[in-house]
Amino acid sequence: MRIDAHEIDRQYVCMSQIKSIIGEGKKAYILTFGCQQNEADSERFGGMAEEMGYGITHEIEEADLIVINTCAIREHAEKKALSITGQCKHLKTKNPSLVIAMCGCMVTQEHRAEAIKHSYPYVDIVFDTSMVYRFPEILLARLSGAKRQFMLDTGCEGHIAEGLPVHRESSFKAWVSIMYGCNNFCTYCIVPYVRGRERSRKKEDILKEVKELADAGYKEITLLGQNVNSYGKDLDEEYDFADLLTDICKIEGDFIVRFMTSHPKDATHKLIDTMAREPKIAKHFHLPLQAGNDRVLKKMNRHYDKARYLSLVDYMREKMPDIGLTTDIIVGFPTETEEEFEDTLDVLSRVGFDNIYSFIYSARKGTPAYSMEGHIPYEVQSARFTRMLELQSEISVNRNRDYEGKPTRVLVEGRSKTDESKLTGRNEKNRLVHFEGPDSLIGQFANVMITKAETYALFGELMEG
Ligand code: SAH
Ligand code: SF4
Ligand code: F3S
Repeated sequence: MRIDAHEIDRQYVCMSQIKSIIGEGKKAYILTFGCQQNEADSERFGGMAEEMGYGITHEIEEADLIVINTCAIREHAEKKALSITGQCKHLKTKNPSLVIAMCGCMVTQEHRAEAIKHSYPYVDIVFDTSMVYRFPEILLARLSGAKRQFMLDTGCEGHIAEGLPVHRESSFKAWVSIMYGCNNFCTYCIVPYVRGRERSRKKEDILKEVKELADAGYKEITLLGQNVNSYGKDLDEEYDFADLLTDICKIEGDFIVRFMTSHPKDATHKLIDTMAREPKIAKHFHLPLQAGNDRVLKKMNRHYDKARYLSLVDYMREKMPDIGLTTDIIVGFPTETEEEFEDTLDVLSRVGFDNIYSFIYSARKGTPAYSMEGHIPYEVQSARFTRMLELQSEISVNRNRDYEGKPTRVLVEGRSKTDESKLTGRNEKNRLVHFEGPDSLIGQFANVMITKAETYALFGELMEG
């Protein structure tokens, strides 16, 4: 399961061969769809590309290598990736030596890889999520004149590859994957089919990576996994996610730790106690609910009910009264009735999430829900979705109003995209905060007095010191 160091060395040899083939001044453009896990993978592709001698560009037009890292979670994500891929065709006419690579969850599905093979002949390389570490070898083959490369290991349970180079997009926020894959097989979800089985990185490797980041001055470290609460279950020693967090918090440095995602069936009191105890852990919990009705949750194969979810929230609030809570919701799962949907609204009202990430159910080929009876018409899904957003906007703005007149510590991320005069960042609870201040604060923590709350953001004034 762990990729042998010799194999990684072999990939480094391929990287240096590519460097001598491509010559100076070549550029790589990496386009990422989907979740943070994919972003973390893309930072590896960026690292490998740099090692091969490519500079990283954010202008697709000037690229000599384009890597499209796809997502399959909903139809929309797939459509977007396919449409961008279509637009790359003309770039190849302009630059015939351009290499286009596709990878990630969408192309890991056989039917999608087949479609690329037949309908997108200008895509040079397609490789699945189990082949990330073999990118150099695959690219080298194509650059050396081999035919189009389709590297798909369908049925692969997945690997762990340590020691690949990484190009981090930020100098103060970092992703650290602690585990890969998923064993949960929620009936709507494609992830277990495209990311393989759950596997945890060794704690030594994770702690070493976090220490390096802390030493380099990183301020926010986000631990990633599809279900971080099952970290360690496949390791030889008795060591769980809460233990890992405790060890990470012992590392010196002025940084905060976040994690995602947690599954309510595996979230433990030990984890919540650890969060409450450790000042370095951001007091924000993203706990996907998906649905508030027990029958629907069962049909989704989620292994918890509404009562269990609410009792977890109660426990968190008992230990950390002002914890920030966010969730994911799926609207219009097959057979969901109006009354059952209202159970979801009821949980939203009871919990009062700071924010929700809500999605209209999207049928994914190969999942159990795909072939269930009782798919809900889009108009009905869409009407429920709107109703839910209306309720949540009201809740979010009320939650945000609690901040008015209070100070909050923000990690400053950059200039606001909509108003250049303002800086923007997130507080510990992941609330977006806008305020005026100098560029020198970017990448630093700043204290901000909140003066105004809106649904999706807080506004404030920089405080002294
Ligand atoms: N592992 C995480 C989330 C992974 S996907 C977890 O278990 O919570 C992120 C979110 O996408 C999910 O929480 C879910 O709300 C949504 N999602 C997954 N499959 C979906 C589908 N087929 N249709 C709509 N939303 C989906
Ligand atoms: Fe998908 Fe469920 Fe796994 Fe999350 S836990 S990735 S929703 S199967
Ligand atoms: Fe998408 Fe794959 Fe992530 S399907 S959400 S990129 S794990």
